[in-house]
Amino acid sequence: MKDRLIQAATEAQANAYAPYSGFKVGAALQDTEGRIFVGANVENAAFGVTNCAERVALGAAVAAGARKFDRLVVVSDATPPSAPCGACRQVLSEMAADLVVEAVGPSGSRRWMLADLMPDPFGAEDLAP
Ligand code: THU
Repeated sequence: MKDRLIQAATEAQANAYAPYSGFKVGAALQDTEGRIFVGANVENAAFGVTNCAERVALGAAVAAGARKFDRLVVVSDATPPSAPCGACRQVLSEMAADLVVEAVGPSGSRRWMLADLMPDPFGAEDLAP
């Protein structure tokens, strides 16, 4: 049986709205209680307001009350599988310092710790006087 998170991200990928790039991405984020939240990229004719799958998943999770996460799966058709963009790394770092990030695609998968992908994120402590 396929991994639950990979399955969820693959299903979300099919729902991606990517008429401009044609690059569909699905994401599945697991919180520390085992709940899974999914996202897909949502493009727009005003390209700059496009949302990535990872941030859509995080938004769904936060709206449901989740705050702590331990695993993220991102599914795309890229070879090698594509890692989250810089903006998503920053946003994920706010709530998921110990996150395991897995990118999955037709050629297989790659895995990192978020802290290795985003070693020095801007954080709440930077706002301290
Ligand atoms: N995209 C994501 O959804 N996640 C990423 O980490 C990288 C890029 C989306 C944004 C856009 O809809 C398309 O992929 C091409 O950049």
